[in-house]
Amino acid sequence: MLPLMVEVRLENVTHIYVTEKGLKTVALDDVSITFPSGKITGVLGPSGCGKTTMLKIIAGLLRPTKGKVYFDDKDVTDLDPQKRNVAMVFQFPVAYDMSVYDNIAFPLRIRGVPKDIIHRKVMEIVDILGIDRNILNKNAKGADPGLRQKIAVARAIVRDADVLLLDEPLTNLEPLVRIELKTKLKEITQKMKITTIYVTHDQAEVLTLAERIAVMNIGKIIQYDETTRVYEYPIHEFVGYFIGNPGMNYIECSLNEEKSVLECKGFEYTLNRNEVEVLVKYGKEFKLGIRPEHIIIDESKSDKGIKGKISLVERIGTAFLYHVEIAKETTIIAKTYKQIGLREGDTISITLPKDKVRIFDKKTGYRILP
Ligand SMILES: Nc1ncnc2c1ncn2[C@@H]1O[C@H](COP(=O)(O)OP(=O)(O)OP(=O)(O)O)[C@@H](O)[C@H]1O
Ligand SMILES: [Mg+2]
Repeated sequence: MLPLMVEVRLENVTHIYVTEKGLKTVALDDVSITFPSGKITGVLGPSGCGKTTMLKIIAGLLRPTKGKVYFDDKDVTDLDPQKRNVAMVFQFPVAYDMSVYDNIAFPLRIRGVPKDIIHRKVMEIVDILGIDRNILNKNAKGADPGLRQKIAVARAIVRDADVLLLDEPLTNLEPLVRIELKTKLKEITQKMKITTIYVTHDQAEVLTLAERIAVMNIGKIIQYDETTRVYEYPIHEFVGYFIGNPGMNYIECSLNEEKSVLECKGFEYTLNRNEVEVLVKYGKEFKLGIRPEHIIIDESKSDKGIKGKISLVERIGTAFLYHVEIAKETTIIAKTYKQIGLREGDTISITLPKDKVRIFDKKTGYRILP
C-alpha cells in the first residue's frame, strides 16, 4: 500500500509554553503554512525558533495554544497522534532493547500486519537504507549513532505513514555517514512521494534535499519559497545571512539621489534612474547585500573594481574564503573554489556583479531591490 498523499496545513498556529513557575515562552507566533503533499519541504532556523514545537504540533504530541492543523481538508487539531498516521524521527533516536529486525518490524507488529508481509517490508527497507542484512539479529541497543538513526528512519517509513517528520536526523552523525544517509533519504522521499517535513539548522543539507524551504526566526516564518528563490532573493537580511556558508555580505550605504549612486563604505555603487526612484521612497539608508560566492576576484590586480587588502584567507572544505578589507572596519568575504595565488596582505580588486546585488532597507531589514 502506498501512503496517501496528504497536504499539511497550519492555520494561525500559536504555541505558548508555560513553565511551573508561570514563565511563558511564545514558541510559535501566529504561523500559517502549507506543506505540499508528496514533497519534501525543509524547515530551517536558529536554535529555539520553534522548529521542534511545530513538528510536535503536526504529529499531535502537542496541542497548539491557538490555531488549527489540517491534513487536507480534515481538521486534526484535536486528533490523537495514533490517529494521524504521522511518523517522526528525532535528533537522538531511541533504539529499543531488541534486535535490529524487531526494532524495524515493531510498528507493523502492533498493527497486527501478517508476518510474511512484515518480512517483505522490513527487508525492502533494510536494503534501501543499506543496513547490513547480517546484523539484523543483533541487539540494537549497542548500535552506533549512524545505525541507530537508520533504524529510526526504517521504523518510520516501514509503516507507510502519510506524513514523515524528520527533526535534525543527521546532526549527530559522522560526516561520511551523514552524506550516505542524506542521499538515501533523498532517494526514499522521492520514490515514496511521502509528505516530508525536514527540520535542520544546516542549510547545506536542506538545499540539496528540499524543493521548498521555510526559514523561521523567533516563532515566525520569515520566508517560505522555492529553495533557489530563498537563496537568490532573500526576503529579509536575516534570511540572506542565515542561508549560505558563509551568509551574505552586507555593506552599509546611503543614497545619493543626484549622483544616482549608493555611497557605500569603500566604494560607490551605480544605480539606474528606476532604482533611484524606488529607493528614494524608503529614505536614505540601505544595506547592499552580496553573496561571497558571487563576488568576482580580479587576479590581475587591475584598476577596475573595488580595491581592498586581504586580511585573512580561510579554507572551508574545498573552498577558499578571502576576507577583503575595502574600508576601515568594512570587510567583504569573497568565496572561490579555485586556488589563486593571493595571500594575506595582498591588495586586490573585486567586482560585484549587478545581477547578484540585493538592496535592503536598513531600518526594517527587508529586501527592496530587485
Ligand atoms: N517543554 C518546554 N517548556 C518550556 N519552554 C519550551 C519547551 N520546549 C521548548 N521550549 C522553548 O520554546 C522555544 C522553541 O523551542 P523548540 O524546541 O521548538 O526550538 P527549535 O527550533 O526546535 O530549537 P533547536 O534548534 O535547538 O532544536 C524555545 O525558546 C524553547 O526554549
Ligand atoms: Mg529542535
